[in-house]
Amino acid sequence: MSKVDVLLGLQWGDEGKGKIVDVLTPEYDVIARFQGGPNAGHTIEFGGIKHVLHIIPSGIFHEHKMNVIGNGVLVEPYIFQQEVQALASKGVNATKNLYLSKKAHLILPSHRMLDAANEQAKGNAKIGSTLKGIGPAYTDKIARSGLRIGDIMASDFRERYELLKCQHLQTAHTLKFDLAAFRIDNMTLEEYEQKWLASLETLKKFELINSEYFINKCLDEGKKVLAEGAQGSMLDIDFGSYPFVTSSNTVTAGVCSGLGVAPSRIGRVMGIIKAYCTRVGAGPFPTELFDETGRLLCEIGHEYGATTGRSRRCGWIDIPALRYACMLDGVTDFFVTKSDVMNDFDEIKMCTAYQIDGKITDQLPFEFNTVEIKPQYVSFKGWKQSLAGISKYDDLPQNLRDYVSAIEQVTGVNVRAVSISPDRKDVIFK
Ligand code: GDP
Ligand code: IMO
Ligand code: MG
Repeated sequence: MSKVDVLLGLQWGDEGKGKIVDVLTPEYDVIARFQGGPNAGHTIEFGGIKHVLHIIPSGIFHEHKMNVIGNGVLVEPYIFQQEVQALASKGVNATKNLYLSKKAHLILPSHRMLDAANEQAKGNAKIGSTLKGIGPAYTDKIARSGLRIGDIMASDFRERYELLKCQHLQTAHTLKFDLAAFRIDNMTLEEYEQKWLASLETLKKFELINSEYFINKCLDEGKKVLAEGAQGSMLDIDFGSYPFVTSSNTVTAGVCSGLGVAPSRIGRVMGIIKAYCTRVGAGPFPTELFDETGRLLCEIGHEYGATTGRSRRCGWIDIPALRYACMLDGVTDFFVTKSDVMNDFDEIKMCTAYQIDGKITDQLPFEFNTVEIKPQYVSFKGWKQSLAGISKYDDLPQNLRDYVSAIEQVTGVNVRAVSISPDRKDVIFK
């Protein structure tokens, strides 16, 4: 009987999860997403081509591996269809090895409208949502009024759809939302709705399953399952900097509810971390840099959102936040990505503690959003060389290995590999 290994981002998302899942897929039989939805953007590069996945698991480029969209995920059928078509144009037929949970909830066009209405109503306090309808769709799930993928087969689906849409329109009206000006992909709500309804036919071409039975049976048969996280632990609905979070449990616990596996069936937990830190959208970011170094991280790291194209805020690695994530997730090993972005830096800093009200602490306070946090830094010498062409861990520059060892030391977690470019081939295992 095997266990589910977990791979998740330990920061504020975009750590390079998609790339590492793709690299590890040959070791697994099944790759399963357990939460989030089209707010995610997971980039995979190989053979000079770049692919961005939003809802589909990052194991899809390995045609003999099974990919599962679990019950905890939100599916937006039109975005899903576009993803399927983009894959098809690259010769990948996803209908062959992708299965969707009947229990996964649907994002309706009117959920996307509500996302925009809620953000507008929040004014300056807005979250900086990707506006894919995540918050409103999870709200309906918890309120027990959502629609699930399995429902699209029911004869009364359209009636239930109209009822829910009506409720959403009423809420938007209460929020004084300007519906006439609202667009999704340059379409009015009605125009988009037609596309959305038509795209349900694409969903029906896929095998719709009870994914909890499917996954547990795979484990019983000794198959290897990898759960692919979206977002990052610091965006978790319970433990992130609420309300500047996403609407799901992005931590390891989310695997149990998002796939239907018992806690005792969780195996390794692989945490993906950038060698520095980024955040997109609003909310606290203690190590954020507003200077030339921050600008360089953004520029050299191409830190622009894979889903929204927004520029990401950049800063130094934050160890208190990382240790918090390790505690919540039970991380067994790290993958460090994007160290190559700092190849030309003279100095690299690591925040090891916070100073709050004159006191030094390594804990994230409840008042994380409002207190002034002064990061306490230690400095490392840069390695000042290109990493291109390096394939053995011991050939990495000493200064980079020292930086990696320091991360291991302050967290107590071993680094399994270092990634040195966006390409699939550039992951250097220790
Ligand atoms: P995800 O959401 O965690 O899958 O990450 P994203 O795809 O949103 O963002 C990570 C970005 O960094 C993508 O553009 C990747 O191609 C790129 N990337 C991943 N690993 C590395 C690396 O080691 N070095 C560099 N330079 N880029 C990387
Ligand atoms: P991946 O999987 C980075 C952020 C948004 C916003 C907040 C809430 O690619 O790492 P939402 O759309 O969920 O209502 O947005 O969460 N966010 C992400 N940031 N990477 C992501 O996913 C994200 N998904 C959501 O920017 O601040
Ligand atoms: Mg991303």
